[in-house]
Amino acid sequence: MIEIRAATVDDSAALAGLRWEFRSAQDPATETQDEFVRRCAAWMRRELSIGGAWNVWVAVDRQVIVGQVWVQTVQKIPNPAAESERLAYLSNLFVQTSARGGIGTRLLAIALDWCRANQVDRVFLWPSARSVTLYLRHGFSRNADVMELKIRS
Ligand SMILES: CC(C)(COP(=O)(O)OP(=O)(O)OC[C@H]1O[C@@H](n2cnc3c(N)ncnc32)[C@H](O)[C@@H]1OP(=O)(O)O)[C@@H](O)C(=O)NCCC(=O)NCCS
Repeated sequence: MIEIRAATVDDSAALAGLRWEFRSAQDPATETQDEFVRRCAAWMRRELSIGGAWNVWVAVDRQVIVGQVWVQTVQKIPNPAAESERLAYLSNLFVQTSARGGIGTRLLAIALDWCRANQVDRVFLWPSARSVTLYLRHGFSRNADVMELKIRS
């Protein structure tokens, strides 16, 4: 049975490996797998230590991590209206191919429950094309009001 739980610092190496699996399949890597996993694991270890800005959940199948989702809150400038003053950026939702089929939904649901319980005003993300249906099912919509500027291509 697959368990969803909060990530710990000790998960960093496994999560960095999953990150490689996710992103190296999308774009050609500019560093080796070893270099990347070492660099990313060090970054994740820092972020997952006490006081880090990210909230992270993992899916675990018989002690092996097979999925993850990361949520970072972004403070808004205080305002005098009845509006919560936090945004959340959801990223790195990934489940290994062999474990897919419901786990992505469970990871997303736990992350969104956390946002609802923690006074988040809205959640933003950049979906991969194939995952749009998953986010639509969870209440996300396209927002034509957001502007973005791509600084580097
Ligand atoms: C997105 C992902 C986490 C879903 O995991 P899952 O366990 O299959 O999720 P569920 O079974 O709960 O949900 C199925 C939905 O996932 C999405 N999905 C399925 N295969 C996918 C794929 N190869 N890539 C991206 N999203 C996919 C679809 O929205 C699908 O719904 P649909 O079949 O009605 O269109 C998983 O497919 C994955 O890791 N994909 C690669 C990484 C990715 O694209 N992540 C989203 C980044 S924003």
